[in-house]
Parts: sequence; C-alpha cells; structure tokens
Amino acid sequence: MLPGDKSKANANPTKAFFVRMITRDITLEDCIFDLIDNSIDGAWELAGGRPMSLADDTDLSAYKISIEIKPDRFSIHDNCGGISLDDAANYAFTFGRKEDAETENFSIGVYGIGMKRAVFKIGSRINIRSTFIDQDDLLSFRVPVEVDAWLAAGDGNWDFDIEEAENLEAPGVQIDVTSLNEAAAQSFDSPRFVQDLRRAIARDYALHLHRGLTIEVEGKPVTGWAIELRHGGEFSPMRANFEEEIEGEKVFVEVLAGMEATPPEDSDPDGDWDDDQNRSGWYVVCNGRIVLAADKTSLTGWGTDNWPQWHPQYTGFMGLIIFSSRRADLLPLTTTKRSVDATSPLYRRYRPQMREPSKAWIAYTNARKQKEKVEVVEQEKEAKAVPIYEVAVQPAVVLPQIATKKRVPEANVLYSVPKPRLLKLATALGNIRMPYKEVGIQTFEYAYADLVGEE
Ligand SMILES: Nc1ncnc2c1ncn2[C@@H]1O[C@H](COP(=O)(O)OP(=O)(O)OP(=O)(O)O)[C@@H](O)[C@H]1O
Ligand SMILES: [Mg+2]
Repeated sequence: MLPGDKSKANANPTKAFFVRMITRDITLEDCIFDLIDNSIDGAWELAGGRPMSLADDTDLSAYKISIEIKPDRFSIHDNCGGISLDDAANYAFTFGRKEDAETENFSIGVYGIGMKRAVFKIGSRINIRSTFIDQDDLLSFRVPVEVDAWLAAGDGNWDFDIEEAENLEAPGVQIDVTSLNEAAAQSFDSPRFVQDLRRAIARDYALHLHRGLTIEVEGKPVTGWAIELRHGGEFSPMRANFEEEIEGEKVFVEVLAGMEATPPEDSDPDGDWDDDQNRSGWYVVCNGRIVLAADKTSLTGWGTDNWPQWHPQYTGFMGLIIFSSRRADLLPLTTTKRSVDATSPLYRRYRPQMREPSKAWIAYTNARKQKEKVEVVEQEKEAKAVPIYEVAVQPAVVLPQIATKKRVPEANVLYSVPKPRLLKLATALGNIRMPYKEVGIQTFEYAYADLVGEE
C-alpha cells in the first residue's frame, strides 16, 4: 500500500505554463483577428444568425468595431451586443468551451480560448468591459485582469473578479490592454504593422465588410476587397452549392472558381510576386471568415494528386470554398483560424471539386502558350469582372477551348554535290541563280510526287 497522500501524481497545469503555451504559436495579428471574430459573432447573432452563404443579404451596417493601436496601449471596442453577466460568470472567461456549452449560431468562435489568448499575448494589464441589455435595462460590468498578480496568486484559483462598471455608449464590449509585452510594443510602434493589419482585415473580412460592417483601425474605416471573377466571351466561372449532414447537423458548402485576372502576357514569367499573383489561388471560408487566402500550397491541392505545384503561369486563377454551419466545430478551421485542418474528412471530401477547376485553368494556360498572344489577350479582355455574389450557378468552369496543333517533327537534309552538276540542275529547274537550298527543296518535291505521290 502506498501512503494515502502519494497515491496521485499532480497533473494540474500551472498558470504560467498555460499562458506561455497558448500564446506561443499565434501571431499578434491573428490574436487581434480573434477579438474581431468575437465582435462579429455578437453582431451576427443579433442580426439573425443564419448560414453565411454568399446569397444571404443580412445587413451589418449598424455594427462597428474600432481598434486603436498605440506603442503603449491597445484597445478594441464594438457595439455588437456585449457579453451578458451570466455568460461572463459561467463561460466567456473559461479557458476552453465546456462540453455542454451552447453552440452559437453560425459563429466563428469554437474553441473558447480566443479572447483570453489574445489579451495575454498583447499585454499584462487588461480591462474588459461589457454593456448588455438585461430585460430592457442596460447593465454593465468589467473584468480587470492584472496578469502578474494573477500569476503570483498561485495556481489554486484561476478565476477573475467581475466588478461593477459604467455603461458604454451602446451595448457592446470594450477591451483595453496596457503594459504591453515587448513584441507587441515593438509591432504597435511600426506603421508597417498597422498597414499590414488593415490590408489583412480588408481581405479576410471582405464578406462582412460587403454586408456593411464597419471595422475602423486608428479612426479610419477599412474598405473590404471586392472579390470578383470574370465572365463574358468564352469565360464563365463555376458556382456550385452542396449540402452535407454531419452528426445530424447541416453543413453548407459553396464552391466558386474561375478567372480573377488575365494571366500574365509573358507565358513563362519569372517568379516575381506581383499583385495579381498575390491574389491568385484558393480561398477557404468558414462561417464567413476567410481563414486561408490566395493559397498556392499542397493545403489546397497544388503539387498533390497529379496536380502540379503552383507556377506563376497560373496567375489569374481564383477559387473559393465556403463552408458554413450552425456548429462551427464541424468546419475545417484550425484554432488560430489562419489555416485549414487538412485532415478534416469534410475538407478532404471536397478535394475533387477543387481539383477540377484548378486543372481546367492549368490546361488553359498551357494551351494559350501555343496561340497568338494578341488573339488570346483579346479574347480574355471580353470577360468582365463580376462580384462573386452575382456569379450564376454553373457546375463547371468554362474556358476557351484552344485546339492544340500537333507539331510534325522535322528532318534536316544536308549533302554536298559537285557544283557544276547543281548549276545544271538549277538551270533545268528554270533558274541558274536559284539558291542551293531551293534546288534541294524543289527536287525533293519532284522526287516525292513521282515516287510517293500526292498526299
Ligand atoms: N466582443 C464580444 N461581444 C460579445 N460576446 C463576446 C465578445 N467577446 C467575447 N465574447 C463572448 O466570450 C466568449 C469567449 O470568447 P473566446 O474568444 O475566448 O472564445 P470563443 O469565441 O467561444 O471561441 P474561439 O476560441 O474559437 O474564439 C464568446 O463565446 C462570447 O460569448
Ligand atoms: Mg473567439
């Protein structure tokens, strides 16, 4: 018998280890995106919480998310309904969603870690405020988190205190972080970081921005990307809808693909990453959020299953695969929401749907190399940009059929004969000054017609 107090090995995590681990493999930008995702989940819930298909026209213009990034502080503020006191007490601050937690409607959030991970990554003095409507009344609270004191208080108690607070202007959440961590302070001091963040927001939240949502960074609203595919002439993008049922829950899938920009005129461009090439590739969208953008790697099939690796020649191709479900945990997103889970059976099932349009484009760009450049360019110009929301349903991408001429292999003939004899033959053919090569060709044709006959 073991002594009673030694019969269990303590495996509880320490707070310090936990904070270090959860913040390790995520970028600052993705942490900020986690906070934006939460605001959007609030807005989407208030707006009705439907599948985020392209055809859905939910208006998000009443909602605004403002982000401030200063060298010594970070803040994000929204009017997206706030966190209720019940949710704050039981669930919002828990590390990881509880098994029995209600799944939100068509949310981006799934794991129950994003907000906590984000604020820990950014700094060590955190203040989270919420104002929400409780039976027609506005109620507010705040959750201050002093990370150093929380760590020093030991590993027995992981809770945060909830305190009374003044109302925010409208139901919503405001998160302020000061005492920035070194990496955050450095990044936030750089205009480049802010510029890149704006650019990434414009792309990855394009579907929400299109529905009127405002996302402001440093007081300036971000304009979303206009995602378009070209239609016209002999070009037509594909758009197909599918429905799956997983664990009794519906998953909606939409695939769009086609020409986003005309391919490079130079049929064998060097590897320079120009703007068009930057936008080309596959996009994966989960509950409205672009989690993988302009992908040219094996994650979206390039270089696998007889599907060549990405080459700048394929510039101009764009494909989107859009998943939505009431239960976000059924979708193939990773915890950082910056990639797809390539092992997800759902995602794998759609590989053929992604492969077909990619292969059609590869074949088209191969064939166009053999045609007159002006001709293909003229044809491509006939196709005009159409917003993805307006693309008509069509099961496969339509591209010009370029008949590739079979080249007949050539043989070179080289021989020497006495010059007087050649001149005599040239004279017999009607011209003593005929070039030697011409004498050769004419006599070849003469002998061919005589011995082989007409073709
Ligand atoms: N800005 C906000 N507006 C409304 N509710 C919020 C907001 N921020 C957080 N919440 C609430 O807090 C909960 C916890 O957020 P957190 O980001 O930690 O996890 P999650 O969103 O559930 O999952 P994930 O880890 O995938 O992001 C959310 O589910 C939501 O209920
Ligand atoms: Mg979240």
